[in-house]
Amino acid sequence: MHKFNNDWLFYREKIDAISRNKKIIKKINKYFKDYKILSIADLGCGTGSNYRYMYPKIKVKQKWDMIDISFESIKEFKKITTNKKKIININYKKYDLIKDIKKFKFEDYDLITGSAYLDIMPKEWFYEFKKQNLNTKVIYFSINYDGYFKFYPKHKDDEYVLKLFNKDQESDKGIGKKAVGKNCSQIINKVFTKTHKTFVLNSNWEVSKNNIFQDMFINFCENVIKKNKISLELWIKFRRENIRLNKSKLLLRNKDFLALKL
Ligand SMILES: C[S@@+](CC[C@H](N)C(=O)[O-])C[C@H]1O[C@@H](n2cnc3c(N)ncnc32)[C@H](O)[C@@H]1O
Repeated sequence: MHKFNNDWLFYREKIDAISRNKKIIKKINKYFKDYKILSIADLGCGTGSNYRYMYPKIKVKQKWDMIDISFESIKEFKKITTNKKKIININYKKYDLIKDIKKFKFEDYDLITGSAYLDIMPKEWFYEFKKQNLNTKVIYFSINYDGYFKFYPKHKDDEYVLKLFNKDQESDKGIGKKAVGKNCSQIINKVFTKTHKTFVLNSNWEVSKNNIFQDMFINFCENVIKKNKISLELWIKFRRENIRLNKSKLLLRNKDFLALKL
């Protein structure tokens, strides 16, 4: 199983929070305005960033089930969370949402959510997920990578690096199956259009002022380049130098997906 680095997840949390599409929480609150309590499952919860973003913004009381295959992340989640008045309870479940998707009780929840999760799922997962969630009231997946990033100033190898990166996003991330990668928002939207009113909205990372983050992102690119046994040292050097000189800008495109049961 691919391990997500908890430091990276925590660092990314602030960036994700400002990037998320703000219209979505409004739509969720409007949809559930007559509810007293919401039952919510956070798929691939990691260290809990999606929960921390959502719970203060959801207006009614909430019960959360935090689901992840990795206990390492769930352990970190407990350490930094304090329950507020609106939270009735939080449960933690170590669960393989790919292997055991058929046994997962989606019908127990009003809201199924997840962040930075969809693009690592294999394609067939989406069809099974659809079958199990035809009647789910609200489905919200945030920060779904959509296959495009751009650095400034430009470099002649930018497109090549992007291609390598996207190919890597679609590789097996340790689950024995290829991940769906950049097409995740399109696929999820397609499978829910008949049963739900769906929205695909921008949640781009605009991290021009954040040199640490850009540097971490270059590390990712460097790993991908190394895996492909390609020499792009000049590109890496160029990118790091521009970050050091405060001249570098990075935009990375994500999408947020929302489905409201018709
Ligand atoms: C990129 S992390 C995102 C974590 C968190 N949602 C966030 O936004 O920071 C993806 C998470 O999905 C979890 N995951 C991957 N495959 C899974 C599976 N088959 N079942 C359950 N969780 C899984 C990983 O352990 C990881 O915590």
